[in-house]
Amino acid sequence: MTKEQITIELFQELNQTNIIDHLRSLNDEKKSQFLANLNQLNERISLKKLLKDSKESLNQLNINKITPSTSVIDSLPSTSYQSIIDNKQLQDAYYEIGIDSIKKGEVAVILMAGGQGTRLGSSNPKGCFDIGLPSHKSLFQIQAERLISLQNLANSDIPIHWYIMTSPLTSEPTQSFFEKNNFFGLSKDQITFFNQGTLPALDPKGEQFLIGSPTTLVESPDGNGGLYRALRDNHLIEDFVNRGIKHIHMYCVDNILTKLADPVFIGFAIKNNYQLATKSVRKRSPHESVGVIATRDSKPCVIEYSEISNQLAESIDKETGLLKLRAANIVNHYYSVDLLKSHVDNWCNNLTYHIANKKIPIYDSKTDSIIKFETPNGIKLEQFIFDIFPLIPIEKFGCLEVDRNEEFSPLKNASGTQNDNPETSRLAYLRLTTNWLKDAGAIIKDDDILVEVSSKLSYHGENLSKYNGHIFDKESLIEN
Ligand code: UTP
Repeated sequence: MTKEQITIELFQELNQTNIIDHLRSLNDEKKSQFLANLNQLNERISLKKLLKDSKESLNQLNINKITPSTSVIDSLPSTSYQSIIDNKQLQDAYYEIGIDSIKKGEVAVILMAGGQGTRLGSSNPKGCFDIGLPSHKSLFQIQAERLISLQNLANSDIPIHWYIMTSPLTSEPTQSFFEKNNFFGLSKDQITFFNQGTLPALDPKGEQFLIGSPTTLVESPDGNGGLYRALRDNHLIEDFVNRGIKHIHMYCVDNILTKLADPVFIGFAIKNNYQLATKSVRKRSPHESVGVIATRDSKPCVIEYSEISNQLAESIDKETGLLKLRAANIVNHYYSVDLLKSHVDNWCNNLTYHIANKKIPIYDSKTDSIIKFETPNGIKLEQFIFDIFPLIPIEKFGCLEVDRNEEFSPLKNASGTQNDNPETSRLAYLRLTTNWLKDAGAIIKDDDILVEVSSKLSYHGENLSKYNGHIFDKESLIEN
């Protein structure tokens, strides 16, 4: 049997009548191209598992509507949870451990920048976005420069390696943006761009793959959980080992306040011997709709807001007087390279596929045109990065509570919306750097005067002593 025949049989076996009908409408050349694309897809992922999981996810959604889950949800045990808020001594102790590891070249950073940024609505990758700071720097530039200032703090000959995950949609514009801007002062060699994979979209029943052009299916990025497959398929774990990297800090492109390779976080993980750690911020209120880091049946996990009863959401931790389930998930992780080395393969093969109803343009062979829809006409599949949390033994899992004002302000929505937009990101960044100046003794004339401190000058408020006594009476930018 030829390769093409094998592919046709597979799709027949998977009941893909759409595809089989479409194949009949193609000439020989296009048919070969389409089959080659299908074959490639099948070599990349198990389509059988994908169809099975999406069916199960759909069924599960229906079951959850009727029967609440019986699993036991609780906060993390104290051995897995620590706060550094208002604890300078602890911050300093962890910092020393983390910076020492950075000096030795043991720490690298992964940036997840493969998302489509649909809510923001910009045609460029989110990292290129200008949130309107006095400097008009993009998110990528702020992050690159923060890495430079951390390197200055570490004062080591070994640069901190930056791995940037893009998707087929963001790859080219991201790389061109970095090249056009001379890598923002970083060395080109310390950056590795790599692509995450894509997954085919399905009809609303989760049964038929959707066709996007005469020779391709509709595909979209495989979600933030696609990171693990991307690490494996791009041989990056071998790369970590070859470079002597032992600790990974992973974060999302849209958080303007991210402390790349944060020595305090790295030190927290090293000191406590965690294999995987995550940062959290305090929930603003019991009913803020964010996922929380908690345990389910004693295993670490992220629990969606909708799964938590009102009573549990409102319950108070007697010791602290704070919410019991207050650890809001900000998708900011630590991984030991040893953990990735031994587990990524298994995670890739076993992570489930989650579904999201979307409006998906599809190809119509009868009219040879693309049809667009006003309401969701299909489902996109995604893997979630935190689905592996329950696989980590609880004693190897840590959560570090950090100050939201210092570390988390995500850019999700377009300008003028209620929250998590360019205005809130701008304000969060400027408030933070203005506070650094105040701490350094600068005089800020008015409460609404904000000063941008270049992230190239200061990583976390250092290097500002020369502004002691300096008066700021209007919005300004400090570059050096
Ligand atoms: P979000 O889930 O908020 O998605 O991503 P998004 O693409 O930024 O925005 P919407 O939902 O389309 O409006 C959180 C982080 O995960 C990354 C994003 O780039 C962002 O840093 N991400 C998300 C990926 O890298 N790949 C994906 O497939 C999805």
